[in-house]
Amino acid sequence: MAENISQSVPRHIAIIMDGNGRWAKQHGLKRMFGHQRGVQTVHDITEAAAELGVEYLTLYAFSTENWNRPQEEVDALMSLLVDTVAKETPTLMKNNIRLLTIGDITRLPEKARVKFQTCMEQTAANTGLKLVVALSYSSRWEITRAVQLIAEDVKKGNFSADDINESLVSSYLTTGDMPDPDLLIRTSGELRISNFLLWQSAYTELYFTPCLWPDFTVEHFKEAIADYSRRERRFGKTTEQLQK
Ligand code: IPE
Ligand code: IPE
Ligand code: MG
Repeated sequence: MAENISQSVPRHIAIIMDGNGRWAKQHGLKRMFGHQRGVQTVHDITEAAAELGVEYLTLYAFSTENWNRPQEEVDALMSLLVDTVAKETPTLMKNNIRLLTIGDITRLPEKARVKFQTCMEQTAANTGLKLVVALSYSSRWEITRAVQLIAEDVKKGNFSADDINESLVSSYLTTGDMPDPDLLIRTSGELRISNFLLWQSAYTELYFTPCLWPDFTVEHFKEAIADYSRRERRFGKTTEQLQK
């Protein structure tokens, strides 16, 4: 079913990459092995998205709530991020991919923050896929921060409360001028959003698969896109209105 997808490739795909720990458990391994295998999936899916002509790929790599995991796992994940960014930069350059991040990166250990900053600078002029990594991200954090920033600007007299509209609120989110996601994929069978892109996904098509992230292949990815391309997005209108 993966043929014919070129007609309606989503402009922006967001992914909740879940199930690394369960994958490791299934294989009798420690959780970190699952995260390591998950990095290979990130590599493959990113290259596939670039090839398919997706404009934005947003990957949920570490949530605000993930700071509450055992310290040992948090530390190991941070080192994995550091290693991965350094190792993957040549692939990003080769594929003309630009790296961006959303989230509270001030909470990251300095080494990780510097690696991400360096990679963002190195890839800044790339004009292909924008790979947006959500790090120490949660929607409630992002919306709270946006409300604070808006309140400060009202206080400074930059605009009045009456001027606040949806596009102004959107512009204060960390996603800034990015288009809203067209398709949100979650692996591992969990049927929830876990504090990811709550505002931005108001009209996003949702796709849930039981497949664990380390087992998620380019074929699975293409199947999700094919499924998306068969849907009718009505944005509150009727089918008849769309056919006009
Ligand atoms: C997703 O896999 C990766 C992160 C949240 C960092 P999990 O680590 O949540 O894997 P499960 O859900 O325990 O299987
Ligand atoms: C969501 O996965 C966050 C990421 C994939 C980074 P979790 O595994 O943290 O989500 P919950 O706790 O099962 O909702
Ligand atoms: Mg999980």
